[in-house]
Amino acid sequence: MNKTQKFIVTSALPYAEAVPHLGNFVGSILPADVYFKYLKMKGEDAIFICGSDQHGTPIELKAIKAGITPDRLSNEVHEKIKKVMERSGCTFTYYGKTHSESNKLTVYEIFESLRKNGYIIETEDTQAYCSVDDRFLSDRFIIGTCPYCGYSDARGDQCENCGHLLSPQELIEPYCAVCGNKKLEFRKTKNLALDLEALSGEIKAFVESHKHNNWTKNAINKTLSYLEQGLKPRDITRNIKWGFPVPLKGFEDKAFYVWFDAVIGYIGITREWSESQYLNYWKDPDTKLIQFMGKDNLEFHTMMWPGILIGAGREYVLPHTIKVFEYLNAKGVKFSKSKGVGLNMEGAVELLPSDYWRFALMYLLPETSDTDFSIEEFIEIVNKVMNDKIGNLVNRVLTIYGANRGIISGEEDDAASISKARSIISEYIAEFDAINMRNALHKVIELSELGNEVMSSTEPWKLAKAGDANSKREFSKIMVSLRQIVYDLGIMLWPFAPDAASKILDYFGMDGQPEIKMLENVPDIDTNKPPKAIFSKITEKERKNFEKYIDS
Ligand code: 2FM
Ligand code: ZN
Repeated sequence: MNKTQKFIVTSALPYAEAVPHLGNFVGSILPADVYFKYLKMKGEDAIFICGSDQHGTPIELKAIKAGITPDRLSNEVHEKIKKVMERSGCTFTYYGKTHSESNKLTVYEIFESLRKNGYIIETEDTQAYCSVDDRFLSDRFIIGTCPYCGYSDARGDQCENCGHLLSPQELIEPYCAVCGNKKLEFRKTKNLALDLEALSGEIKAFVESHKHNNWTKNAINKTLSYLEQGLKPRDITRNIKWGFPVPLKGFEDKAFYVWFDAVIGYIGITREWSESQYLNYWKDPDTKLIQFMGKDNLEFHTMMWPGILIGAGREYVLPHTIKVFEYLNAKGVKFSKSKGVGLNMEGAVELLPSDYWRFALMYLLPETSDTDFSIEEFIEIVNKVMNDKIGNLVNRVLTIYGANRGIISGEEDDAASISKARSIISEYIAEFDAINMRNALHKVIELSELGNEVMSSTEPWKLAKAGDANSKREFSKIMVSLRQIVYDLGIMLWPFAPDAASKILDYFGMDGQPEIKMLENVPDIDTNKPPKAIFSKITEKERKNFEKYIDS
């Protein structure tokens, strides 16, 4: 029996701190879901793994402020995220979480292997200590000026402005983010680090041999430039309580750093999904591990994560493709989740059906550069592209077809338009296979434009009325072609807008997930079902509901 090619699709794990806003959603989960849906349409053996990232100091501190345990807080937020992602049309194979027994076990196994293989070294660091709060401050809780770009709100682990990873000692004029104390002590403390320096040769070889597997350009270029600068050992433990305790004598009072168990969480979450199946995916050397993330996650995925996997030597598969997206910046819209007023996915799906967001966000997918999101542009995409180009075409074809089905005879189609449609379809498939999802969406739009062009250039409603045999035959050919185009649109829309796709395919007597191989054979239209709108325009009245999210 032939072995089947397996796929693991992952999205960066959102922090269980708040529900993702539109920028977070399009930066990782949505493109991963779209790609996964495409793989399923192709009949591939694919699983889609994601989950909530529960550890980390921000969650711990938020819990302290709320007077509850971080476990409880992160579980509550996790349930919320899970629900909203389902409402957003995401179909994970499993949406798990990092603070689970399966993940803990996996983290401990990998840690043990890394240690045995000599990649865990003891470091003595000096760590900031705030005597006002009487605690060690983890990197994120130290704020100061970035030594690279001068940004004054840089955190001790990373500068949000230039993306550089930092250590707190590098910050200029650091202070405690909890109480503002400027008199931070730096105390000596022991930690454990992953010896990335020792692994750097193998990490570099990995990047060189994998970078042509459709990695985004930024993933390749930034990684190579970091490797060029040289990798240093990186601490994987912290003086914190919230996290997995370090199972090593002398370090029991510390916990693993959130990023260590987050990346391992991809395996741990798969294990939580199925103890009996997870290794079939993770340890098959031919599995394609396709990982989606925003650009602030790059270093952890292109260097730390392969370093962990290679160093552990447990034969888990390495990432095949790393897709790193730029930012979707809010333009005149509130995104920020910290103040609790931003347009997050919870608010978004209250305002409009999830398909509208999925389609419009994929249309704007920030693949190569940061992209602006504004309400005006969003409305324009919904009204002029989704409604006018796609929805109207479907509706007109169904209406004309239903009203004249008596004169639609045989299967003869209009060869020229069908051949154009076929070439758009094969481009759609090629774009998806190369994981260029925004281009694939543009092929859907192109197909709708072809349909509209056929409609306006042939004016089939006039042919139907003309009455002579030639016109009738011409009418029939055109409607058979338009039927094909509408049907193909239904299938091709599925990864982007599954509800709209289902509405279209319902007219063809189909329900559930379509398959790519169905594109060729169009079933007849069920004309007993009255044509209904697939999308509708956003009205002025509806626009008003957005106002609370608009920056004043
Ligand atoms: O940036 C973030 O939201 C992180 N929680 C992503 C973690 S991705 C992976 F490592 F799990
Ligand atoms: Zn900076």
